[in-house]
Amino acid sequence: MLEISFSAETLPQGGALALLVPEGAETPALFKSLDDATQGALSRAVKVDEFTGKEGASTVVLAPGAGFDRVVLIGVGRTEAFGVKEAEKAGGIAATALGRVEKAALSVGSLPHAAHVALGAVLGAYHFSLYHGTPEDNKTHRLAALAVLAADPAQAEAAWPALSAVARGVVLTRDLVTEPANVLNPVEFAERVSTLRSLGLDVEVLDQPAMEKLGFGALLGVAQGSDAEPRTVIMRWNGGEKDDAPLAFIGKGVTFDSGGISIKPAAGMEEMKWDMAGAATVTGLMAALAGRKAKVNAVGVIGLVENMVSGNAQRPGDVVRSASGQTIEVLNTDAEGRLVLADILWYARERFAPKLMVDLATLTGAIIISLGHEYAGLFSNDDTLAGGLAQAGEVTGDKLWRMPMGKEYDALLKSDIADMKNIGGRPGGSITAAQFLKRFVGETPWAHLDIAGTAWSSKPRNGQPKGATGFGVRLLDTFVRTQHEKA
Ligand code: BES
Ligand code: MN
Ligand code: ZN
Repeated sequence: MLEISFSAETLPQGGALALLVPEGAETPALFKSLDDATQGALSRAVKVDEFTGKEGASTVVLAPGAGFDRVVLIGVGRTEAFGVKEAEKAGGIAATALGRVEKAALSVGSLPHAAHVALGAVLGAYHFSLYHGTPEDNKTHRLAALAVLAADPAQAEAAWPALSAVARGVVLTRDLVTEPANVLNPVEFAERVSTLRSLGLDVEVLDQPAMEKLGFGALLGVAQGSDAEPRTVIMRWNGGEKDDAPLAFIGKGVTFDSGGISIKPAAGMEEMKWDMAGAATVTGLMAALAGRKAKVNAVGVIGLVENMVSGNAQRPGDVVRSASGQTIEVLNTDAEGRLVLADILWYARERFAPKLMVDLATLTGAIIISLGHEYAGLFSNDDTLAGGLAQAGEVTGDKLWRMPMGKEYDALLKSDIADMKNIGGRPGGSITAAQFLKRFVGETPWAHLDIAGTAWSSKPRNGQPKGATGFGVRLLDTFVRTQHEKA
């Protein structure tokens, strides 16, 4: 992870420097001093490139003199509109624009949120390099240390430990999501989570016999076609009052989704290695909460399975009995995420009597048709919870859009021979999936986030690299901090 330090706004000796430049405001002091030191190289570049400080614009000035190799100007838009989200985006764009340098400085000037600029830079510099053959391949991504220059470095430094814990959580989520399915199977995933005990998280792993005992017939039916054994992992962080009911976060962890016997088409099937993004997000969130010693009680429950094709795979038409006792007719083995969630939602509710439950899942292709890649789908049985999550989404930029639910949709799950079937037809496919989950949460305030469109990005966006986004970690960390932690 990119190493961050904070210091005062003085002009560095040279090297690489990024300057955040607001639009329609006084030119930042360091811009002026550097412009003087380089006989006007910056003001000439700004003129030629018609750079005005508009949000998202950037200009690179190579070898302007005074010992500088590379100066990048990052437009951040109007000062009044420069919030936490904008700060993180600017940091990400700066880290990308600085490019192939090992060390650099980033001047925030008199703008606020310097620590959030640093967070954006860390995440913007993210690169997964585990499987590149030679160190040469990594040279295009070698920004390793960033000095953030701010008007109040002490304040930024004080805010940084908590934010860097969140950054580590997002990085962990991205790493897990990016890992290929031959490496990250359910057993390996559970082992990686177990290493988080070093953060003070309590980690418990349920193996197949333990899940059989608990009656996890829906989850185990999905797992039975794979040679990889399933796991359920329970993470607990007890930073709140002893008797406070916990917040529960539940994640779909299908380490590979071939579709099973209702097999998926070959084109794009490789993407289904990230069908465990819900579980990875819960893991990254729990790591963030523990890393910043959040004053809250939280539990994370993730269901880890591989959905494969084999002589022992679940068949279309099979009927399974879930931990709740409700039976399910599995008409499509590719609607497997809801089967996994059915058992662990029920289990989390029964065992922990949580204050609320939020599940995250790459659950349906239909949510991509509804919302594209901008918003994740939000489904809930509780308006307060839904409102709180949507608000955290606006603050962090992990945006949520509330979708409808209702008994008319629920009726589409009626089965001829069991309590329900696992598909409701193509129309409103994300909604019927949510209605299915609702049958396993009882009266607990609950929200379901369908992150199929937002967990992975096929191109760089908002100063963040393409690939795994870590969507949901900052969202839920902010939700917890602003709405459930004692100040
Ligand atoms: N993991 C998929 C959903 C998905 C699709 C995520 C595309 C990301 C991109 C899920 O298990 C699935 O296969 N859902 C089916 C449900 C259908 C069979 C009712 C779908 O969306 O097609
Ligand atoms: Mn599927
Ligand atoms: Zn799936």
